[in-house]
Amino acid sequence: MNQSEKDENKLEVLPDEKHLLLDHNYDGIQELNHPLPSWWNFIFYTCVIFSICYFIYYQIMGGPTLREDFNKEYDKVLAQQAEFKKQNSAFKPDLYAVVANEDGHKKGEEVFVNNCLPCHAEKGKGDIGPNLTDEYWVVAKSTPETIYNVVFNGSEANGMPPWADVLTSEEIYLAVSYVSSLKNTHQKGGKAPQGEKIEE
Ligand code: HEC
Repeated sequence: MNQSEKDENKLEVLPDEKHLLLDHNYDGIQELNHPLPSWWNFIFYTCVIFSICYFIYYQIMGGPTLREDFNKEYDKVLAQQAEFKKQNSAFKPDLYAVVANEDGHKKGEEVFVNNCLPCHAEKGKGDIGPNLTDEYWVVAKSTPETIYNVVFNGSEANGMPPWADVLTSEEIYLAVSYVSSLKNTHQKGGKAPQGEKIEE
């Protein structure tokens, strides 16, 4: 090793670091005991203080458990869902107005044929379900709004299924439009009247 290489490898302790030099020497290797940087200390002590507060809050003061937190959030979701369903289930005259016409009746007939025919028979003359072509109503009260409520929510105890989760909102309004067009058409061979007579 020549002299210049030796100088390059030689580590020097700067004059203002002398007080940091630890008094041991491992085969010529010496250590400086630098103080920790202030940002490091700041993070360290913040974590210590945080963990003490965390422990006191959750272990001693009875802060909520993960399960309790979850249930609280979940209740909120359920409440929102219920609210959404409630709003969605309400009859909306403006949506009905869009389909309350010839075109709506025709499209509604398709929905009716595909879903309602087995119980209400062709042209709604009635079979398992009541005749929809007379002035007598069992659960609905002849108006589009009451027909909508029966179709949307069903009348399950008496065998009319709810359609809210089966048909789209548009299909329900179309079916209501079609059913409304059937009343007082008195189809031949229709089922005997049931329920209350409602004259309009
Ligand atoms: C599984 C048989 C069944 C199917 C399918 C069915 N309904 Fe009904 N529906 C009934 C029965 C039964 C009633 C009578 C309910 C009662 O008495 O509470 C009824 C009642 C109704 C009423 C009220 C009638 C009244 O007199 O108050 C309307 C409107 C109606 N259904 C429309 C529909 C429409 C629209 C569809 C298709 C989307 C449909 N139903 C599908 C069985 C059915």
